[in-house]
Amino acid sequence: MAAKTLPDPSLCVTATDFEKVAKDVLSEKSWVYVSSSAASGLSMKANIDDWSLINFRPRILRSVDKMDTRKSILGSTSQFPFFVSAMGTLGSSHPGAEPLLVRGATRKGLNTMISTASTKTLEEIMDAHIDEQRLLKNQSPSKLSFQLYVPVDRSKAKSLIQRVKKAGFQSLWVTVDTSTLGKRTADRYLQAQENLAGPKETVLKAGTGEVNSENSYAPAFGGRQVPGSVDAGLTWEDLDWISKEWNGPLVLKGIQSVEDVKMAVELGVQGILLSNHGGRQIHSAPSSLMTLLEIRTYYPEAFDKLEVFVDGGLRDGADVLKALCLGATAVGVGRPYYYALAAYGAEGVERCTDILAEEVEITMKMLGVSSLDQLRPEMINTSRLENEMWRPAFGRSKL
Ligand SMILES: Cc1cc2nc3c(=O)[nH]c(=O)nc-3n(C[C@H](O)[C@H](O)[C@H](O)COP(=O)(O)O)c2cc1C
Repeated sequence: MAAKTLPDPSLCVTATDFEKVAKDVLSEKSWVYVSSSAASGLSMKANIDDWSLINFRPRILRSVDKMDTRKSILGSTSQFPFFVSAMGTLGSSHPGAEPLLVRGATRKGLNTMISTASTKTLEEIMDAHIDEQRLLKNQSPSKLSFQLYVPVDRSKAKSLIQRVKKAGFQSLWVTVDTSTLGKRTADRYLQAQENLAGPKETVLKAGTGEVNSENSYAPAFGGRQVPGSVDAGLTWEDLDWISKEWNGPLVLKGIQSVEDVKMAVELGVQGILLSNHGGRQIHSAPSSLMTLLEIRTYYPEAFDKLEVFVDGGLRDGADVLKALCLGATAVGVGRPYYYALAAYGAEGVERCTDILAEEVEITMKMLGVSSLDQLRPEMINTSRLENEMWRPAFGRSKL
């Protein structure tokens, strides 16, 4: 990484502030990798914009002198109602990669989802978590979950699930929105330029955007999909053997319609993560918030049957609370943590967590709630978003 004088981390006061610092330290390739999204960027833009279409309806004169921001997630108490969503190839963000992210998160008591496409092996990442717990005398409530891209080769998939189990990950989050890699425009431009520049040395170095990955399960980097790494033939039936093989809390990551929520409930999974993959997969996807509203409107029973998580475009603690008002258990945050890690390593991860946690708490106070279970749909005005929400065609519901 180039020796640059970075602004003091205290100058980052919102979760979005890490982005400009990171842009300065990242190689072009890493910058393109993290910031890119599908096609013209509509899916990513919708994620970010839709949060601003909801306003609060605050209540006053309620006692908020004692605050509780904890939340039960899949049977464990989480310190916060947010977690780090899975991001592959974190060696492109910082040489310390996933182990460093996990150290920062564990120090803060933050839950982290580890990607199948991590730079380091899942055992190395878990070791970092365990070691940090040891330093903290096992006082951190932080938990690691594992995000699964199902490889085409079933025996490879099963042995990966067994490794995840053996390493002690709390839950398995199967990504279901990646039947193929989305068309990441910025990655494609860069790839075309590289191809024109001629054959290149493929020894990839961490921290420069050139990653020497130790992980043979990584599906792609720089817009190039590794053959056999994601299964386009995956169906609902496969979730049966995955669930048997895993035999623990299972979450489907990447649900984008209420019909699929119904199927997930029928299947009996413990959770769903409403997500359009940070706008990186299908072009013109619904924002994850829109999908959440769709469920609240057409299938509110879902919230009693499984845990509903959301990620995409969450950049402020207030956004976290909007999702919880609609019934979400907790939310995932992606890019801000990549940028924070790139800029300041584990300290950046801690700082980003402090920022979001403080925003959650001050917004709760001014909203008039002292614990997260007091949040209700009536505390937000969703009218603007409802205008754009999907309606069953011609009044006939096929739900
Ligand atoms: C750099 C990057 C890498 C990602 N890698 C993965 C991945 O390996 N597996 C996965 O399921 N989702 C992946 N995602 C999607 C995230 O898990 C998450 O859905 C998304 O980042 C949330 O949106 P946000 O970045 O706006 O917070 C990735 C996202 C980014 C930005």
